[in-house]
Amino acid sequence: MKQFLSANDVHSIPGLIEMALEYKATPWKDEQLGKHKKIGCLFMNPSMRTRLSTQVAAQQLGMEAVVFNVGAEGWALEFEDGAIMNGTTVEHVKDAAPILGNYFDILAVRTFPGLKDRTADYSEHIIHQFIKYAGIPVISLESATLHPLQSFADLITIHETIKTISLNKKPRIVLSWAPHVKPLPQCVANSFAQWTNAWGEADFVITHPKGYELDEQFTKGATIVYDQDAALQDADFIYVKNWSAVQQYGTMPAYEGEWMLSNKKLEKTNRAKVMHCLPVRRNVELPDEILDGPNSIITQQASNRVWAAQAVIASMLKQHK
Ligand code: CP
Repeated sequence: MKQFLSANDVHSIPGLIEMALEYKATPWKDEQLGKHKKIGCLFMNPSMRTRLSTQVAAQQLGMEAVVFNVGAEGWALEFEDGAIMNGTTVEHVKDAAPILGNYFDILAVRTFPGLKDRTADYSEHIIHQFIKYAGIPVISLESATLHPLQSFADLITIHETIKTISLNKKPRIVLSWAPHVKPLPQCVANSFAQWTNAWGEADFVITHPKGYELDEQFTKGATIVYDQDAALQDADFIYVKNWSAVQQYGTMPAYEGEWMLSNKKLEKTNRAKVMHCLPVRRNVELPDEILDGPNSIITQQASNRVWAAQAVIASMLKQHK
């Protein structure tokens, strides 16, 4: 694995899930693999789970993780070729990234979208600039359009939960839009759709109000249902997430109806397990009754971020020994 930006970088999703579950069973089995190696984790935006799970994963591979909150503490970076840097940016990525490439064996980067310019965000220019100039393997810790480590952990969670509930059919997985107080990126939803489609082991449904259609490059293969009640019928898993509009880019078009999930809405499901990537706005995106109730597998889902990160870092270390 030379880079990890999306499901397209994974040779076999079932194989990677098995690898992650082996690490979950035996966290330290490869503690020599990363000896004398370093991963640099650059955060241009806030994080709790991604930052800490990546550090724990690297440590369990015997690797040192160096975290730099470049967005809060570093020089303001410039990404445009030919920029006349007489404004707020101080250092060009083409000057900074080669240095990081010399300091580290793997570079991991979190960079959110601006949500102003759809073409710019969907070109993934920023993470590709790091790949171009760092010269070492790059892991996305969430980019402008995708969050691959999250989606990988999501599928690990679904895979292991299917075994515990003895489901003997393809799971019906529903990605359900939820309300929020401000416009959020589409990354988690895009990425979950891309990974679930690539995995190919689910009856996959996406439900959202009109105006919140995701980019078809990620959703193709899923069934889009605007009626949330119909979508939830017989669901085995419900992945709850807010995202802002793609067409009226970065806006929050008005919608009708109550889109926050409730125990009442769960009654029509197949005792569906409820997922969310976190952080979650309680009683806006999901109510207390679900977050604190027996259907939530959200803590398990967030805990699996460690094994997802460990499998990805190990895959890179094994290839670049
Ligand atoms: N789900 C997720 O990426 O969490 P953090 O933003 O805390 O890393």
